[in-house]
Amino acid sequence: MQETITKTETEEIIRDNLDYTLFSWSKQKGINPIAVKYGEGVYLYDYDGKRYIDFSSGLMNVNIGHGNQRVTDAVVKQMQQVSYVTPNCVTKIRGELGKKLAEICPGDLSKAFFTLCGASSIENAIKLARLYSGRHKILSRYQSYHGSSNAAMTVSGDPRKLSVDSQQAPNFVHFDLPYLYRWEFGEENLLKEAVTSLGRIIAYEGPGNIAAILLEGESGSSGCLKYPVGYLKHVREICNKHSILLIMDEVMSGFGRTGRWFGFENHNIIPDMIAMAKGLTSGYLPFGCLMIADKIVSKYDDMPLALGLTYSAHPVSCAAALEMLKIYEDDDLIENTKHMGKYVDEQVELLKQKHPSIGDWRNTGLLGCIELVKNKKTKEPMAPFNAKPDEMTIMNKVAAKIKELGMYTFVRWSYIFIAPPLIITKEQIDEGLKIISEALKIADEEID
Ligand SMILES: Cc1ncc(COP(=O)(O)O)c(C=O)c1O
Repeated sequence: MQETITKTETEEIIRDNLDYTLFSWSKQKGINPIAVKYGEGVYLYDYDGKRYIDFSSGLMNVNIGHGNQRVTDAVVKQMQQVSYVTPNCVTKIRGELGKKLAEICPGDLSKAFFTLCGASSIENAIKLARLYSGRHKILSRYQSYHGSSNAAMTVSGDPRKLSVDSQQAPNFVHFDLPYLYRWEFGEENLLKEAVTSLGRIIAYEGPGNIAAILLEGESGSSGCLKYPVGYLKHVREICNKHSILLIMDEVMSGFGRTGRWFGFENHNIIPDMIAMAKGLTSGYLPFGCLMIADKIVSKYDDMPLALGLTYSAHPVSCAAALEMLKIYEDDDLIENTKHMGKYVDEQVELLKQKHPSIGDWRNTGLLGCIELVKNKKTKEPMAPFNAKPDEMTIMNKVAAKIKELGMYTFVRWSYIFIAPPLIITKEQIDEGLKIISEALKIADEEID
């Protein structure tokens, strides 16, 4: 079925991409991308026929795996009817998707505003929180990423924003939330410290000025830095006390990734808004959604809701999303995530005994990350936070080995992410971990 292509044609494909397109978050020269010809299940294939196991589900978004024909069929069917209608027309698919999302979301989170991606869900959440509350400040965690558009980048604490520091939007306040592995005083103390310091920051900033607190459902690209047990419940209580809205960013942690529909469900809380994207369509089409509590939207029953996008509720993306939700259910993917997540946990524990460079392993469902260290006692990281290129020498070697051995995954600073598609089997997990184990030999040699 796949057409064959010569070596020179492959080179031309890569050259055109390098010559005429730009690459995110990287210097533009010296890039060596995988030229992907097709994807199937947990695998990607390049034009030379080399197979890569996709251990990060693309950018932790291709939850159902690659090449699922059901999605293609649903998309084609919708396109054959109508590809675009303005957001003030309705389609059958939009209503059905809204209804289905209301079913899977807890509490009174039953109104969907459809967006285009994660950042546009976050932008609209921030805007609506301010409009609704009449307050201006938004609080968020330093150890977070919420998107690269202006407000989404500012609300993120991720150091990717530092190079555009001068463009930060006003009225965003960040707080620090350390994680257990690098906290010397125990989990109970961490929870106490985290809750009291948040309380202090709210007092300093003036609770009456704070529209919302925004947090990831489970931490993602910052290194899967877990919340202390009980933390989100305290945050919910603090929000209730001061009438501050709680927005959960489920862009990465949503749609089964953590063994639940949403990451926050691991913490027994219900937020006021949920920002979604990624797993909503598993990346088959760009799409996002902001799910909003009825108490907020009812304010706009008789006055205009100042949100709008040309492509809001795009029928074809709605079709991809609705089929996606059926696939999660029909194929029992959330259950599989729980089981496979436990299996990865067990297997990484074994790897820990074998590899002195593994400092920590943090995982929820299939959203996990290995943190490499130079010394288990001192916990000196293999590469520092926000590592400069020359501080990445060892980690770059590890990443190159992983790629050479036939794996695609996300390697950042001292972190190797393990977040495969939720369809993964034990055999495929073994295959992937064997590659990581082999690459870790490079890091093990650097131990002091
Ligand atoms: C938690 C979280 N929020 C928001 C975003 C931004 O999503 P997008 O890149 O679709 O704008 C990301 C992207 O990685 C994310 O991980």
